[in-house]
Amino acid sequence: MSKIIVLIGAPGAGKGTQARLLEERCDIPQISTGDMFREMKNDDTPLAKEVQAIMNAGGLVSDDLTFQIVKNRTDREKDSYILDGFPRTAGQAEMLETLANEQNRTIQVIEVDIPRRELLKRLTGRRSCPVCKEIYNIYFKPPKQENVCDFHPATQLTHRADDNEASVSSRLEIYDEETKPLIDYYQRTGRLEKVNGEGDLETIYQSISRLI
Ligand code: AP5
Ligand code: MG
Repeated sequence: MSKIIVLIGAPGAGKGTQARLLEERCDIPQISTGDMFREMKNDDTPLAKEVQAIMNAGGLVSDDLTFQIVKNRTDREKDSYILDGFPRTAGQAEMLETLANEQNRTIQVIEVDIPRRELLKRLTGRRSCPVCKEIYNIYFKPPKQENVCDFHPATQLTHRADDNEASVSSRLEIYDEETKPLIDYYQRTGRLEKVNGEGDLETIYQSISRLI
């Protein structure tokens, strides 16, 4: 039976980095709600503007809109896929149970665990390529040439609008209140596995891919 692989963890834990590696090396699609919402940035609609404002402030987009986007995107998948950044609330977790039933897939949850002290540098140091979405970090994973994508030498890297100290603190607070309880829920229902998100990317990748 194909699976829905949920990567769960605090902002900056490395979900996106690892999901991208899994997609590249194992051919399992990465479906990131954060990336899908960021893609709405250039839409000139009131809804898109509202989403941008919520994200920039480090809040959560409504469960209904988030689920609608996830459902539309995942219904066309034929095999297993990775959810990066969904679910984040109890309501979303419930919606995911229904979706998994409808799609005849099992849910596997992998927590990327990382100490709080590591996160600020990861987030404030993050840069990404607007073309290929490659994720860099000025402290831990710098591009070969300063502020330029390794794969798109004509492209300057960008800094996410929500990677400032005020938004990060709100994102962490919401994570603790809304998302962390889901880890206990998946633990209780026997679907949680945990990897240490600290250390080098390859070691973490090996721990995750072994579980899949
Ligand atoms: P989203 O884009 O999902 O942001 P997030 O959950 O805050 O997580 P991040 O993307 O910040 O972290 P990550 O774990 O992917 O880390 P990364 O691999 O980049 O969501 C953004 C916003 O969208 C939300 O705040 C909300 O507004 C909205 N949203 C999204 N989903 C939603 C939902 N379901 N419901 C409602 N609203 C939703 O790594 C971080 C940095 O660390 C990078 O620089 C990387 O190079 C570096 N790094 C990674 N691994 C390592 C390592 N092992 N060692 C050193 N550095 C590392
Ligand atoms: Mg991410």
